[in-house]
Amino acid sequence: MNKKKILVTSALPYANGPLHLGHLVEYIQTDIWVRNHKMNGVDCRYMCADDTHGTPVMIGARKAKMTNEEYISKIHEERIEDFGKFLVEFDNYYTTHSEENRNICEHIFNSMVQGGHIEEKEISQMYCEKDKMFLPDRFIKGTCPKCGAEDQYGDSCEKCGATYDPAELSDSYCTVCHSKPIMKNSKHYFFKLGNFSKELQEWLGGGHVQEEIHKKLNEWFKEGLKNWDISRDEPYFGFKIPGTDDKYFYVWLDAPVGYIASTKNWCDKNSSDFESWWKSPDTEICHFIGKDIIYFHCLFWPAMLMSSGFRTPDKVFVHGFLTINGEKMSKSRGTFIKASTFAKYINPEFLRYYYACKLSGGIIDIDLNFDDFVLKVNSDIVGKIANLGVRTSSILSRSLEGKTGKILEEDLPFIDEIKNSAETIKQLYEKLDYARAMREICRLSDVANKFVEDSEPWSLVKTDPEKTRSKLTASLEAFRLLVLYLKPVMPKFASKTEESLKTGNMDWSHINSTLENRQIEKLPHLATRTEKESIDKMTEETKKENEVEVKEKTEEKVEISEIEPLAPECTIDDFAKIDLRVGYVKKAEHVEGAKKLLHLIVDIGGGIEKNIFAGIKSAYEPEKLEGTQVVIVANLQPRKMKFGMSEGMVIAAGPGGSDIFVLRPDAGAKPGDRIH
Ligand code: 2FM
Ligand code: ZN
Repeated sequence: MNKKKILVTSALPYANGPLHLGHLVEYIQTDIWVRNHKMNGVDCRYMCADDTHGTPVMIGARKAKMTNEEYISKIHEERIEDFGKFLVEFDNYYTTHSEENRNICEHIFNSMVQGGHIEEKEISQMYCEKDKMFLPDRFIKGTCPKCGAEDQYGDSCEKCGATYDPAELSDSYCTVCHSKPIMKNSKHYFFKLGNFSKELQEWLGGGHVQEEIHKKLNEWFKEGLKNWDISRDEPYFGFKIPGTDDKYFYVWLDAPVGYIASTKNWCDKNSSDFESWWKSPDTEICHFIGKDIIYFHCLFWPAMLMSSGFRTPDKVFVHGFLTINGEKMSKSRGTFIKASTFAKYINPEFLRYYYACKLSGGIIDIDLNFDDFVLKVNSDIVGKIANLGVRTSSILSRSLEGKTGKILEEDLPFIDEIKNSAETIKQLYEKLDYARAMREICRLSDVANKFVEDSEPWSLVKTDPEKTRSKLTASLEAFRLLVLYLKPVMPKFASKTEESLKTGNMDWSHINSTLENRQIEKLPHLATRTEKESIDKMTEETKKENEVEVKEKTEEKVEISEIEPLAPECTIDDFAKIDLRVGYVKKAEHVEGAKKLLHLIVDIGGGIEKNIFAGIKSAYEPEKLEGTQVVIVANLQPRKMKFGMSEGMVIAAGPGGSDIFVLRPDAGAKPGDRIH
């Protein structure tokens, strides 16, 4: 048995949207693989994190009116909850926005510089003067230079498939504010990927990737490896490049480093030796990724590792995408199903099982067809497996005091048939061929159900209770083994079984333990049928969620493109509604975890005190405000903010940073005086 250590990762999900069923293909695939290794006694650790940097996260935070940090920490909490529901169990789920990650990125960059692998070059890129930022390709749209289709992204045309440089688009516009970008020069840092061409080719020849991926990569080698731009200009949410004032690491540089940083964080928390995971030949490093990010993981990433003294990955397992009812997931079709919405209506363990039935280790796409889903989980899990356990254990409890007996000699071949598949199933899991493993488990459950039918315990118990006890013991033994085989896929189902049958925490070494001669409890209800109505409800809710998102996107465009730069008109009557009052700042303090806010208690006279969170921290120390007077909007509807309720607004203005100035009333003013 292979007992060396294994470090496993799944691609780090972007922190700019909810987890959906497409994401879950990979996390479930990886989680099953890890659980199987753990059940085999291997020191296997599963590391992951949120991928938190880059322009889309920055824009997402802006739209949500949060700081970048607030935004990513909200997403982090949601992620942890969603993964928990689907029983995806990481050893560590961290964030790329961490000091560990910053340090390792800097170390890798410095090694690249020292090795002569970085080139500085001035380049010209599209820049939005209004948003004051360089625009990534996905933030530029325009008319395709090849086929004339309108509204195409800056890198490729969805209509004709052409790829181009964003500068080639005609009528280009910034997708954030809809103004026309200009071309602007700036200095960038490039990683000279070509310096690693030979080593990369050797690595790729070493069996670390699937054969079809190797072929694809060879094509890229033929085209020649280009230098990789690893820097971005401000404003950018990320890590500053050492030695620069306004350059940041491109998110794709720090994202995979997040694998290492998450491990480092886990090692520090668990007193484990970091070097033994990322620098030792005795540890296997295995990445699970989707087919869209091969270039990053099979070229850039190993080259980064080669340049900086880390070892290269042993395996990069690539999977395909998820389609729903045969089509690409899409918000406009209403099939962009969030993990949390699915879990509200359908047992998440069933999705694990269904995906397992579809995954066989290749890169072809897998389809989630809901009619097939209902048939499959109801027939296999509810009808065959759960039913086998529940009906045998209930006869034993009802008529034979819940005591198992001894399996008859004549039934040993039946048990052996079930046991004999253990090694095959374990290996199918290792080879990622879960589909065949599931087929084998279903075949064995047919064998076991036939055994129960043939032994007819429900009538035999009336004439020969002891023989019935033996037959039921054999049936339950078969059930126990099937649950053990299914455990990497359905761990909760397994733990309920373990509790009732008192097997302890089963792993692969439990193949040879036995249920003979013991007191068991009647198995609880293990699995409920999935009804078509639950699918319909889930689909309905998803459609509504998707409609709102599609609508918001369209409205955002209208608002930004046609009404900007002025906000909608406000009448004198609207304006008169604002009740400005003099307030006395009774208390001012920092808010733990908030980057911009101060917490104020403001007395506005008449015994009224307002609890206010004001975004003026960058300009005012709390001591400078306490005991002074300010002007506040006193009749603002209270708003629930992340840190509490805010019941007013302090009037302040300025360009930002330390240049924000609160409006001060006249020296003689008293709290509560109205300002006109
Ligand atoms: O494609 C993605 O969703 C990226 N966030 C994956 C990053 S994987 C790794 F490099 F961090
Ligand atoms: Zn813009």
